[in-house]
Amino acid sequence: MIEISIDGNTIPAEEGSTILQVARDNKIPIPHLCYHPALKPSGSCKLCGVEVGSPSGKQVVMLSCILKVKEGLVIRTDSPLVAAHREKAFAKLLTLAPESQRIRDLADRFRVPVPPEPNGCIRCRLCVRVCNEIVKARAIKMVKTESGSKVVPGEGKCIGCGTCANLCPTKVMRITDRDNVRTVSIRNEVVSRLPLERCEACGNLYATSDFLAHVAKTTSPHPDTKVVHHLCTACAKMMSDRALTENERIRK
Ligand code: SF4
Ligand code: FES
Repeated sequence: MIEISIDGNTIPAEEGSTILQVARDNKIPIPHLCYHPALKPSGSCKLCGVEVGSPSGKQVVMLSCILKVKEGLVIRTDSPLVAAHREKAFAKLLTLAPESQRIRDLADRFRVPVPPEPNGCIRCRLCVRVCNEIVKARAIKMVKTESGSKVVPGEGKCIGCGTCANLCPTKVMRITDRDNVRTVSIRNEVVSRLPLERCEACGNLYATSDFLAHVAKTTSPHPDTKVVHHLCTACAKMMSDRALTENERIRK
């Protein structure tokens, strides 16, 4: 048996053991993921870094799953140097496995700040810009949160036009039409749920009543139009093709 110091406490340690093994035996918390008692250490995850004095007298971080105990070794598991090392190691692991709850929980336990879990949004703001600048519904906005910027419902009212979903390059913003209702959502977060109207010609559900009302309010009626029909794109095209053919027939 030899003696080492961990965080100012003298700890007896068996020769040949590693710092991580001694820490585990003495319930001293050090984050680790790639260590397994039945396997040789690989030093892959880099989470188990501890601060130790190098022979040159400089304080350095070394991997505790590899570092063997030595008489008089002075270890710190909770120093600014260790904290900076851990933050980098957790960030690297989360770029490889961003949705791993186990890594996130471990980081949380050791109070290591980590990047927010990605939700598929690349913050291009196309959805927000088109909603503000073209549709003018101001139904979504980008806000800064503790875990980064996020698209959330805005001050205006979603009319369920679906323009945001059509423009979203990652398709995380989407529209789902089910049971006469259109749902606009960003991943699992619902922006709006609106009833759908049927096309007057084919009877298919095709647009929300709010969208049709918005179009009626923001466009001026054509002077020749007596009655406004609500038609889906396919039927509107068919009607317009038919009208063109009819006009050509009359001209001949
Ligand atoms: S939801 Fe889609 S369109 Fe909107 S900011 Fe995110 S990636 Fe861009
Ligand atoms: S436990 Fe993974 S590098 Fe030490």
